[in-house]
Amino acid sequence: MIGVFDSGVGGLTVVKEIFKYLPEYQIIYFGDTARLPYGTKGADFVRKYSKKITEWLLNRGAKIIVVACNTSSAWAADFLKKEFPNLPIFEMIEPAVKEAIKKTKNKRIGIIGTPGTVKSGIYKKKLAEIDGELKFFAEPCPLFVSLVEEGLIDGKITEEVAKKYLLPLKKKNIDTLILGCTHYPLLEKTIKKIMGKNIEIINPARSLARGLKKFLENNPEIEKKLRNGSVHKFQFSDEPYNFQKINHLCFDKKIKPIVKDPFLS
Ligand code: DGL
Repeated sequence: MIGVFDSGVGGLTVVKEIFKYLPEYQIIYFGDTARLPYGTKGADFVRKYSKKITEWLLNRGAKIIVVACNTSSAWAADFLKKEFPNLPIFEMIEPAVKEAIKKTKNKRIGIIGTPGTVKSGIYKKKLAEIDGELKFFAEPCPLFVSLVEEGLIDGKITEEVAKKYLLPLKKKNIDTLILGCTHYPLLEKTIKKIMGKNIEIINPARSLARGLKKFLENNPEIEKKLRNGSVHKFQFSDEPYNFQKINHLCFDKKIKPIVKDPFLS
């Protein structure tokens, strides 16, 4: 099984891409709805629960871990890789960075994400490691999460909010924009409308799923181990708010969520 975790329901956008590229594997998903949002929490909190969730997924048969939450990826992925040195861990930042670098022509890249992801400085670090000449502009877009969870993926209100966040980035003349939060790919149409049709949009979920597919093709001994589950499981630590709405926005398959907090003492 592929273990996927997020702070809540947004990680379904990542599952959507995994289903598309790797339809033959089972997924065990955990959404930490009891403790969300992660996007405004500190690094220690996010690391602590990312580790607990990873252990929980491993105990339930996951053989690889996908850190679908961008904030967890930003604060906790390197920490998790140290804590679980033999475990294949996939996160949202690096695949998106690599794709953005391939796509940009003017070397001016924008990134939008939660306040935590932007504060972590991880994108700047990873981009600079690969190409010191890149110019990088980041903007936290906290209201996007609530808009998506209310099903407001387009229309006047969403466009106004998008303008507030995106016009400063547009002024920086970026040609590539990374959607660095689980919820943002659902706003792609609105984002394109504000940024203009020439902008290259990077959906990290798609970059991750493609990379994961390649990894499994090149690592048959790990790929074999993934064939150990029969049905997908989606568990949340508390009621997932507006779950059916997000479920419907991501795929036709209707998911029945299990609600149980394994970390309640
Ligand atoms: N899943 C989070 C992320 O991708 C967004 C929601 C939250 O703040 O918990 O960063």
